[in-house]
Amino acid sequence: MTATLETPLALPCGATLPNRLCKAALTEGLADAWNRATPRHERLYRAWSEGGAGLVITGNVQVDRRFLERPGNVVIDGNGGLDALRRYAEAGTVGGNHLWMQLNHPGRQTPAHVCAEPLAPSAVALLNHSAAQFAPPRAMREDEIEDTIRRWVHAAAVARDTGFTGIQMHAAHGYLLSQFLSPVANRRTDGWGGALAPRARLLREVVRACRTAVGPGFPIGVKLNSSDFQQGGFGADECLQVVRWLGEDGVDLLELSGGSYESPTMMGAKLRGPDAERPVADSTRRREAYFLEYAAAMRTAATMPVMVTGGFRTRAAMDEALAAGELDMIGLGRPMCVDTDLPKKLMSGDWTQAVAYERDIDPPKAGLAWFCLQLMRIGDGLEPDRGLGGAEAIARYAENEARTAQGLVGR
Ligand SMILES: Cc1cc2nc3c(=O)[nH]c(=O)nc-3n(C[C@H](O)[C@H](O)[C@H](O)COP(=O)(O)O)c2cc1C
Repeated sequence: MTATLETPLALPCGATLPNRLCKAALTEGLADAWNRATPRHERLYRAWSEGGAGLVITGNVQVDRRFLERPGNVVIDGNGGLDALRRYAEAGTVGGNHLWMQLNHPGRQTPAHVCAEPLAPSAVALLNHSAAQFAPPRAMREDEIEDTIRRWVHAAAVARDTGFTGIQMHAAHGYLLSQFLSPVANRRTDGWGGALAPRARLLREVVRACRTAVGPGFPIGVKLNSSDFQQGGFGADECLQVVRWLGEDGVDLLELSGGSYESPTMMGAKLRGPDAERPVADSTRRREAYFLEYAAAMRTAATMPVMVTGGFRTRAAMDEALAAGELDMIGLGRPMCVDTDLPKKLMSGDWTQAVAYERDIDPPKAGLAWFCLQLMRIGDGLEPDRGLGGAEAIARYAENEARTAQGLVGR
């Protein structure tokens, strides 16, 4: 039977997602000074839950309070706030959707205003970024790696106990798990670096330890780069093998993306590196979705359902990709920052496509700030500001991040 957007999706663990549209992880920056959830999360996630996506994935939640992706992240690290998480999970599931918490450790992509000495597999600084943006990292000791796995397990158990219906490990976009996978960032010569198996060990140990903690019926997803799109980085061939391993480890949903801060292909930047040679676009779906060619290949190795996130905007492309069996689930990011009920609109036929706001943001580099500010507005109970200018977005976002970083306590 050909799947459509409305077809439920059964996962290996036994859970079922009500449809094929997912609101992908979008960092919110709405936590309080102790990095706990707030009523702003409740407002934002209620809107997404009522918006019709079968799966809503939270913005990345950190497993270690010392290392944040940005100052306003939610953290689960003995910092309290469990009732706030319960209210957040309740609001985020009112629509009958699944709500999965994305768990992350940013590693060397921890901003300098949050941490002066980030941890990473090896002491390799980010390319094309200054020390004022990201301080040079220190290589993790083995006991710190083991400690990170324990923290991950703790956060996974808290997510389950507070009402989230699944978890997703962030192993894409150059954060810690992705750094371990990358031969560029991971130069270790111990049991955590070198060949692919030791580079993939941290991700696999995190998945397996969390599975033991949350039990067999609780969904575990992984967001993975189909390629880093970087010379010498984690590439599509290696990804194929990691996908096989993740199937053995009992992963329920594989989300494919690509790139990192060094090569931001997840947002549509030109693909680079040895994996960038793709067949010429021959259909709507291939023209708009960034990683579809890779997904089709990965799917041959995947025993779990596959989701692709990045670029999908038209219902035609989504239908075609589902019908062609290239994927099982469609991830939507930026359009969901403004039109929280986009899934309902697409499924009802009211809209045949999402608005590609990113095309009109000037300058384009203001995109991330622009979308983040929309999430904050919705969290504050305001309407999105579709007319927000790019330069103003950059200035307001920078001011917000600096203020939030200054106010952080308890670290
Ligand atoms: C404002 C914003 C915040 C994001 N935060 C996260 C995040 O916390 N975790 C993650 O895995 N991806 C994050 N992403 C990437 C998106 O999940 C998605 O992969 C990307 O936007 C491409 O999908 P799209 O073309 O539908 O926007 C973020 C993207 C944006 C624009």
